[in-house]
Amino acid sequence: MEELKPYLKERSKIVDKALDAFLPKARVRPATVHEAMRYSLFAGGKRLRPILCLAAAEACGGDFEKALAPASAVECIHTYSLIHDDLPCMDDDDLRRGMPTSHVKYGEGVAVLAGDALLTVAFEILAQTPPTKRYDVGAYVTELAVSSGSRHLIGGQILDLEGEGSDVLLSPAQLKFIHQSKTAALLTASIRLGAMSANATPKKLEALTIYGQSLGLAFQVIDDILDVTQTSEKLGKSAGKDEASNKSTYPALFGLEKSRKEAARLTKKAHEALKPFGKNGLRLKELVDYLLDRDY
Ligand code: IPE
Ligand code: IPE
Ligand code: MG
Ligand code: MG
Ligand code: MG
Repeated sequence: MEELKPYLKERSKIVDKALDAFLPKARVRPATVHEAMRYSLFAGGKRLRPILCLAAAEACGGDFEKALAPASAVECIHTYSLIHDDLPCMDDDDLRRGMPTSHVKYGEGVAVLAGDALLTVAFEILAQTPPTKRYDVGAYVTELAVSSGSRHLIGGQILDLEGEGSDVLLSPAQLKFIHQSKTAALLTASIRLGAMSANATPKKLEALTIYGQSLGLAFQVIDDILDVTQTSEKLGKSAGKDEASNKSTYPALFGLEKSRKEAARLTKKAHEALKPFGKNGLRLKELVDYLLDRDY
């Protein structure tokens, strides 16, 4: 795992540079919205979605530079979803990426609009991805729109919202559906977009879809576990929030031990999906292992 650290650091820097180049500068009029977009975007996220996007492109024999636009686009969507997730009308959080949340810093109106602007600019950036023989810009746009729209990310957030604050926990199937929608769908799209930018064969794209879905579900199971086991300082966001708002989570439904086992099982499933890639899948294997063992 240690040898992955320099790679993650280097890739984060590459992603930050690309995001900085794609985003309007903070001084562009009206500065408030551009400042607020950059405030959340450069607050210090782990950049996992863009890093997975670049790694998927390489696993398919592509050049990571051609995946910088989709990598940046998915990070914009992710950051928008966090700004809105933290709003008082949603999870009501005041800490994110180790900093005050957008609405605490700028007020709710600006936070909503900065989120909207990140969502919109994501598609402006994505449209700059070079088309390949198999995938045109329309295919990229559809991929991101569907995964972040009402049937997936937003759909999951709606069900998450409706499911909280009740004494009755959701069923395991309902919870799985929420996690697949709110979290796994965008992670899967990040990986698929990287692969598409490298002109992946349908077979490879299918294998990476299974990898992404398994990794994505494991990711949210671990997020739920960390909410119970870690401190706010370590996470850079408020710990213990899920229990405080009576949220149905994997630890709430199954306990910590069973939740950890489920994350490990899903990680194994992700490994298996990488088989057709041979040596080219090594980095993606390391990344899913890293996600399983992460402590923030
Ligand atoms: C947090 O995502 C929100 C979830 C979908 C669980 P990350 O843990 O990737 O957050 P950052 O990007 O590092 O802040
Ligand atoms: C957030 O899930 C998922 C999205 C933002 C789409 P959580 O509410 O569990 O994320 P954190 O714990 O606040 O980062
Ligand atoms: Mg939430
Ligand atoms: Mg939240
Ligand atoms: Mg959480």
